[in-house]
Amino acid sequence: MPLVEYWIDEQRVSFQLDGQTEKGPGAVLLETDDNILSGTPWDAQGYCVKPFLSEPQLAALRRGFAQLIRAEVEAQGIRIPGEFCLEKYHRLVTDEQHAAIIKRTRIGFERQQFPIRLAEVEQRVSQICGTALTVDGANYRGRPFFLRIVRPHKPQDNNPPHRDVWLDHLRDGVNIYFPVAGSNRLSSLPVLPGSHKWSEAEIERSVNGAKIEGLNYTVPTVTNARMPLRMTRPDPAAGEVLVFSPYLIHGGAANLNDDLTRVSLEMRLWRRSAAPCQPLPVQVQLPSFPLVPGDAA
Ligand SMILES: [Fe+2]
Repeated sequence: MPLVEYWIDEQRVSFQLDGQTEKGPGAVLLETDDNILSGTPWDAQGYCVKPFLSEPQLAALRRGFAQLIRAEVEAQGIRIPGEFCLEKYHRLVTDEQHAAIIKRTRIGFERQQFPIRLAEVEQRVSQICGTALTVDGANYRGRPFFLRIVRPHKPQDNNPPHRDVWLDHLRDGVNIYFPVAGSNRLSSLPVLPGSHKWSEAEIERSVNGAKIEGLNYTVPTVTNARMPLRMTRPDPAAGEVLVFSPYLIHGGAANLNDDLTRVSLEMRLWRRSAAPCQPLPVQVQLPSFPLVPGDAA
């Protein structure tokens, strides 16, 4: 079983992969795919952290997302004493209840559940990227946003390092990560700067998804590379957004806080000039927990 080893800032992370590895053909995907970051000052590193929305908009988002997750908790028959606090989610749910919540939410939430107008997010991310973007891209599956819940010290709640674009329907877009609760230097999403331009031949990955410590993941995980696997957590502050390429290696976001659940908003956008189409049906044949909203990684 291959030992996978990588770094998140000063922290060494390792795990044993159960399965085979392979390298892709010697192609840089972004040489032929749509690079939305092209022309931005942050194209070389593949991500940026910027102020997101106004304080009233952010407050509405946090309030709305807390209501959505509270409803999911209560749907498990859990009584919430007093005020619901997203950061203390892990104190309320068992592993089985959390798995049930993820099973319901991993396909994403519906447009009408978004707490503010989606156009406000589209406008801001378009401004950051310098080009008109929409959630209604060619690969849009009818559910434009995802809430990721990562409990403290539960490695099964996060994905090992991967590229989203190893799933074809996630190519040509741009991703955002917005910290909703409990997101800090011990829990926020790691990225590997510059890796969006690595050739497939320079990256070794698991074959057909990944199996790690008995858990199946849909997207292959990075197991090695010609360059060092040195990741970093850009750690957007409250009110900031991390915008990053789906070609960038990211993930492996273990939550190392002792008593804080991390909740983040994750969305994908595509260039508005791309031909719009009818939403594709939401995939229902997804592997068992743990599964990651949208990127299934
Ligand atoms: Fe991902």
